[in-house]
Amino acid sequence: MLSGKHVLLIISGGIAAFKSLDLIRRLRDEGVSVTPVLTHAAEEFVTPLSVSALAARKVYRDIFDLTDEAEMGHIELSRAADLVVVAPATADLMAKMATGLANDLASTLLLATDKRVLIAPAMNVRMWQHPATQRNIATLAGDGVLFVGPDEGEMACGEFGPGRMAETPQIIAAIDAALSAGPLAGRHVLVTSGPTHEPIDPVRYIANRSSGAQGAAIARAAAALGADVTFVTGPATVPPPAGVRVVQVETATQMMTAVEDALPADVMIAAAAVADWRVDNAAGSKIKKTKGAALPKLSFVENPDILAKVSQMGKGRPELVIGFAAETDDLVAHATDKRQRKGCDWILANDVSPETGIMGGTENAVVLITDAGAETWPMMEKSKVADRLARKIADRLG
Ligand code: CTP
Repeated sequence: MLSGKHVLLIISGGIAAFKSLDLIRRLRDEGVSVTPVLTHAAEEFVTPLSVSALAARKVYRDIFDLTDEAEMGHIELSRAADLVVVAPATADLMAKMATGLANDLASTLLLATDKRVLIAPAMNVRMWQHPATQRNIATLAGDGVLFVGPDEGEMACGEFGPGRMAETPQIIAAIDAALSAGPLAGRHVLVTSGPTHEPIDPVRYIANRSSGAQGAAIARAAAALGADVTFVTGPATVPPPAGVRVVQVETATQMMTAVEDALPADVMIAAAAVADWRVDNAAGSKIKKTKGAALPKLSFVENPDILAKVSQMGKGRPELVIGFAAETDDLVAHATDKRQRKGCDWILANDVSPETGIMGGTENAVVLITDAGAETWPMMEKSKVADRLARKIADRLG
């Protein structure tokens, strides 16, 4: 249902900008209010006057327009809408988005927004196929940006191939889908992610190579389906996604407490690489290297198994508890055994042998183990694994 929704429409400078006039008109016919933003390049293709006349609203054009800042700051402008739409999205604006540049009004709004962003790319086919653009597309998809198009066909520049902006009805359908309540709306999904750091003394710790990429992708995918997501993360190198409640922790013990505090939840996904042990005799001050003295001896104590604890908690247990199994051999056998031992419903098993490049990499190959057996998924981007898992969760919860 589009009526009554508010879209912030960013028009960047490409020949397809003329189509955005039709988009504004059709959106208004559907009862959507449209706040237009034009980049300077877009003004070469459409005039601020025609855009403002069709939108029946002021057009925002410049970050340094002090009148605008007095009326509505750029932060507020980026958040007042239900959805941010970029149509057309040029290769240049996509590159800015992928690197987080904020050097004009459009890119600043895109960096400051806490709303979902849908882009309709439009560019020459070679520009679309260039490895740099393809890298940016993968980055943006990983950040949760939604895409509509581009279409394939004859282009204004005379070439043929993908790069033509999607047609208005297609963009409107994508806006409708982005604004409708997803299948996980009203569900609380708890995700643990990243490594843990277990202190040896105040300056040293024991850690592992987890980047937190898969956990962040899962949190983003669940949020994209409308879930209310709590993201409990250790010190990861990949930042948490937008639109989720983030709880930063350092140690396994802190992660356990944060998970207990976040419950109840409908679903828990334990994607964290939790240290199995912590140093029992961690020093309160930095251990000094004293000449001739004996080398320090670390003794260990077992950390709480967060996944097992939540799986076996009885009353208040999430309806669906999902774990990961990081293995280097006998993947399915070890993971099947782990599922039994921990008591979780599903296990996503992955081979983390160094030659797979999975740990710290962008792709993952998983085997999903449920009570129905093992289902092998092909190697795919971690964001795709996350999308597939989120959809499977939504199907299971009904
Ligand atoms: N996990 C957890 N708390 C721990 C250890 C692991 O919640 N203290 C969770 C992980 O988030 C993951 C799953 O348990 O979902 C499997 O972790 P893994 O390290 O692969 O298994 P282990 O329990 O360490 O078993 P093993 O050492 O035998 O491989």
